[in-house]
Amino acid sequence: MSTPSIPSAYYEEAADFVRRKLSGRELPQTALVLGSGLAPLAGELEETLAVPYGDIPHFPAVTNAAHAGVLYAGRLAGEPALCFSGRCHCYEGYSMEEAAFYVGMLARLGVRRLLLTNAAGGIRPGFRPGDLMLIADHIKLGPGSPLTGSAFADMTRAYDSAYRQIALETAGEMGLSLAEGVYIYAPGPQYETPAEIRAFRALGADAVGMSTVPEVIAAAALGIRVLGLSIITNLAAGMTGQPLCDREVLLEGRRAYGQVGAFLKKLLPAIRREEL
Ligand code: HPA
Repeated sequence: MSTPSIPSAYYEEAADFVRRKLSGRELPQTALVLGSGLAPLAGELEETLAVPYGDIPHFPAVTNAAHAGVLYAGRLAGEPALCFSGRCHCYEGYSMEEAAFYVGMLARLGVRRLLLTNAAGGIRPGFRPGDLMLIADHIKLGPGSPLTGSAFADMTRAYDSAYRQIALETAGEMGLSLAEGVYIYAPGPQYETPAEIRAFRALGADAVGMSTVPEVIAAAALGIRVLGLSIITNLAAGMTGQPLCDREVLLEGRRAYGQVGAFLKKLLPAIRREEL
């Protein structure tokens, strides 16, 4: 049987480093991950401290130029939060364990809530670029797991149902259209073929993307509650007659950031209230 390739001590060392950086501050129990195009959202944090990923021991480097690679600590809507601007993907050559490294670090820091955002291609008929999809569940095709070498883990509650309910209510109050759907993980870096998208639709997928799933699996195994939000940046391959373009994905992500930022600022306190 294979064993985890990342030693437990690496997570501890990374967490110790961040804890030292945060000394004197309230330790956040909420973390936020900004997907493609959403980096400006980090500017919404108050009392911000920036820690480049490269400074954190054992932290995998981000190679995608569209991802900043900075961890911010601060307050969003008054709530202490850690905010990851950019993530590592398997298409950069990382294993799922490496892509989910930060989740293991967060667990050791005592973080209990993880709000994940990503850019995704819309598969469900009727989705338009700019739409938001609340991830209700996912499909992971192909091999690889961040849990290789560890115990079995339940995935039936990977996307916290109370958080989803709060997200739907909050969106409703804001007049924001938010549809629940299933996210399918495609490792990339190539976009999908039209035939793959037809197959994904038949499998029950509503949106497709190249991130998030490794981290959600790790979070579920570690007991961290997850909320996942996809920004539909494009219609999936073969749906428009046009080729896919990463610039379009990035631009649409950027366009959505104001709306997503306003939503997250309402969501964070609502999620905290649920626990009181
Ligand atoms: N496919 C995969 N990943 C994506 C897409 C897509 O169409 N859009 C944004 N991320």
